[in-house]
Amino acid sequence: MRIEPRVKGFICTTAHPEGCKAHVKQQIDYMKQQDTTEGPKSVLVIGASSGYGLASRIAAAFSCRAATIGVAFEKAARGSRTATAGWYNCAAFEEFAAAEGLYAKTINGDAFSREIKEQTIELIRRDLGTVDMVVYSLAAPRRTVMSREGAPITYSSVLKTVGQPYTSKSIDLRTNQVTQVTVEPATEEEIDNTVKVMGGEDWQDWIAALDEAGVLADGAVTVAYSYIGPELTFPIYRNGSIGMAKRHLSQTAATMTKEYRDRGLQAYVSVNKALVTQSSSAIPIVPLYISILYKIMKEMDLHEGCAQQMYRLFHDKLYSGEVALDQDGQIRLDDYEMRPEVQERVMKLWENVCDENLQESADIQGYWDDFYALFGFRIQGVDYEADQEADRVIPSLC
Ligand code: NAI
Ligand code: NA
Repeated sequence: MRIEPRVKGFICTTAHPEGCKAHVKQQIDYMKQQDTTEGPKSVLVIGASSGYGLASRIAAAFSCRAATIGVAFEKAARGSRTATAGWYNCAAFEEFAAAEGLYAKTINGDAFSREIKEQTIELIRRDLGTVDMVVYSLAAPRRTVMSREGAPITYSSVLKTVGQPYTSKSIDLRTNQVTQVTVEPATEEEIDNTVKVMGGEDWQDWIAALDEAGVLADGAVTVAYSYIGPELTFPIYRNGSIGMAKRHLSQTAATMTKEYRDRGLQAYVSVNKALVTQSSSAIPIVPLYISILYKIMKEMDLHEGCAQQMYRLFHDKLYSGEVALDQDGQIRLDDYEMRPEVQERVMKLWENVCDENLQESADIQGYWDDFYALFGFRIQGVDYEADQEADRVIPSLC
């Protein structure tokens, strides 16, 4: 069949297998053009099928030549439905890795669950012995945990403020128009639940499970991702419900480094740049900020995508000797985004942006190009007229 994008608000319900493959290849090609990194040898990436997790896996494999196991939660094609983009990405990644003699296997299922942790441990034990790096890059709307009695409890995360409602400019992704949105404050329970889903508890569960099973190498590195951004997004991000979860994530890094001191574990949170991913598109206000940021960073020749960010994380930050941290103990990959000269120009545009000047004030085209690319569309060199087999195999899942 011919596969076309079907966009509904901030989600696309179809994905293009050849387009996803080309998108993965672009990131691999970028990585291979850079100097190699003397880095980890066996890497577990939790949330490996898209965005920052996929780019981390690409950096591990194609800059460090590491064996990788990727955990993701994706769907195969079924009937007239295409597979999810992350599914195609995993299939393509394995294929490219195998072509270069790199070990790559995928575990598809709920990373929050005990079973997936056990399956992953089994696979590490059988194939790799231990892992010397664990990337934790989940972005999930909910997490199911088993109670002591064995009953499932599901927590949902929300993208709301804490305390006061916040009214701001935003972009209506259906019409590309500047709108006003008011984001309501989360209840105490919603905040707690967001911390349950997006905080550090499950990251710590993973490290504990890997350590207890004896599959975590001495001196291993583990990293999870966070975001800070400018003041205009503080109410919805840094000081919002998601920000509370990110604070917990950061505390978890410090706790784990202390707790596993005798094992030499180094746990980090890296603060990354705002980029178009399936997760960031769902946050109110942020897409308009991203479109303006893209415009300015491209003009200043400072723009990076996930692959560029993750290359710098591996090559310049984590595996270049002493790891430079900010006053809160975090790695700052948002250093270019947060430069005063970038932020001043972004703020000036932000204050004046309206429907009439949206196209000049913001890189709307760049936003949508990146958005479509997440699902394998609008990628150069891909023949979108050609008939496609929607069913693709992830070799290691057969
Ligand atoms: P993404 O949506 O591209 O990737 C999420 C990944 O998590 C996918 O591989 C998905 O399969 C996996 N996943 C979700 N639920 C799962 C589950 N239950 N079990 C197994 N896998 C599951 O998101 P993105 O943007 O790459 O986010 C990754 C991390 O980076 C998040 O912590 C996010 O907050 C952070 N971050 C994102 C920024 C952005 O602008 N996109 C900026 C800074 C940090
Ligand atoms: Na990811």
